[in-house]
Amino acid sequence: MSVYQTRKTPGRTDWFVHDRFGMFIHFGLYSMPARHEWIKTNEFIPEEKYQKYFELFNPDLFDAKAWAKSAKAAGMKYAVLTTKHHEGFCLFDSAYTDYKITNTPFGRDLVREYADAFRAEGLRVGFYYSLIDWHHPDFPIDVLHPRRKDANAEELDKGRDMKKYALYMRNQVKELLTNYGDIDILWFDFSYPSRDSSDIKPWMQYGGCKGKDQWEAEELIKTARSIRPDIIIDNRADIEQDLWTPEQYQPMEWVKHEKTKELVTWEACHTFSGSWGYYRDEQTWKSPKMLIDMLINTVSIGGNFLMNVGPTSRGYFDYRAEKALKVYEDWMKYNSRSIYGCTMADPEFTAPRGTRLTQSADGKRLYIHLIEYPYAFLEMHNMAGKVNYAQFLHDGSEILFSEKTSEHFSEGRTASDDLVVFNIPQIEPHVIDPVIEVFLK
Ligand code: GLC
Repeated sequence: MSVYQTRKTPGRTDWFVHDRFGMFIHFGLYSMPARHEWIKTNEFIPEEKYQKYFELFNPDLFDAKAWAKSAKAAGMKYAVLTTKHHEGFCLFDSAYTDYKITNTPFGRDLVREYADAFRAEGLRVGFYYSLIDWHHPDFPIDVLHPRRKDANAEELDKGRDMKKYALYMRNQVKELLTNYGDIDILWFDFSYPSRDSSDIKPWMQYGGCKGKDQWEAEELIKTARSIRPDIIIDNRADIEQDLWTPEQYQPMEWVKHEKTKELVTWEACHTFSGSWGYYRDEQTWKSPKMLIDMLINTVSIGGNFLMNVGPTSRGYFDYRAEKALKVYEDWMKYNSRSIYGCTMADPEFTAPRGTRLTQSADGKRLYIHLIEYPYAFLEMHNMAGKVNYAQFLHDGSEILFSEKTSEHFSEGRTASDDLVVFNIPQIEPHVIDPVIEVFLK
């Protein structure tokens, strides 16, 4: 058993920390302009102008099965889809709004097709739900809202009733958790209870910000748990639940609770190229090595990894996303054993320079990820007497090793009692970040 205990939380996280790797999917009207999912507010687009996307939205090549198959092939075990993003557009057939996919030329309930298809592939199903809503008439204009700089913004804000909007969210969460089968994750996004910004105006309700009190987050979460008590909920509704979600950066150590310093259940979310929605002209696509490094880095410090795809407005994964997913597919095909059911290695193991360690939760296998390929030998201290057998994980080829020795090194080195030296082939194997699987005694 792994020695690490995480802070107890209301939801059920055992399956989650086993599965480790999921797919985030950001899809919405913003896939059409294809220049950031925040475009409505970034470019202050008026409602009348944004409406054209709604009127034309038709992802004619959308195939939920194809999405599910590529997630599965990449080694992902669960997915989280934006059922509604900040623009307010709903990808599901909600009874509480007309601003929904079934009223576009596409006409189908995409959330249903997604949930069914992913479940059929054996993947767990998660829903992202934006707390922010730049379409709803009761959502008060605030520091992030597209209308915040309009000449008549103050006028426009009059009569907006946050209580009505909070009720709308509860109703939609009820729909999402009752009409689509077993939902495993509810990913709220996001809160900004205070901000320092010149965009905040005196007339703005709640000081131009929003947090748990405005969302009525306690009620909202209670509503969700009354339907699905075990569901995993993130912390972004401004109330601590199950999941800490560092975004677009790689923590350097296991994420800890802000106050108690306990280890927590966490999930790093990342993009292939920077934005979450499909962004046609973005040139910042991560290299294959970066993609693999990030997955390994995350699991090596006890985290989950949620990698995002932003499908094109025609509903398919663009060639760059496919290429990136293929990188995971090729790697996971041979190396998934060092990811699933794995966590940070016990403290007795120190990663040699240029490596990361993961360990199976039963403690029996140690995985040495060669992030920087070593030349000829890999020394590992405090290891003598612990290794039964070692092999490359990708091809199961034996890695010879010797113990308590320094014979491989240049003159002057003395034998070290605790040392294991792995003999590494000088020709680097044809895989990114080769993994040595160590069978521990
Ligand atoms: C941010 C962004 C958003 C994205 C999310 C994913 O909070 O607002 O566009 O959906 O992060 O983590």
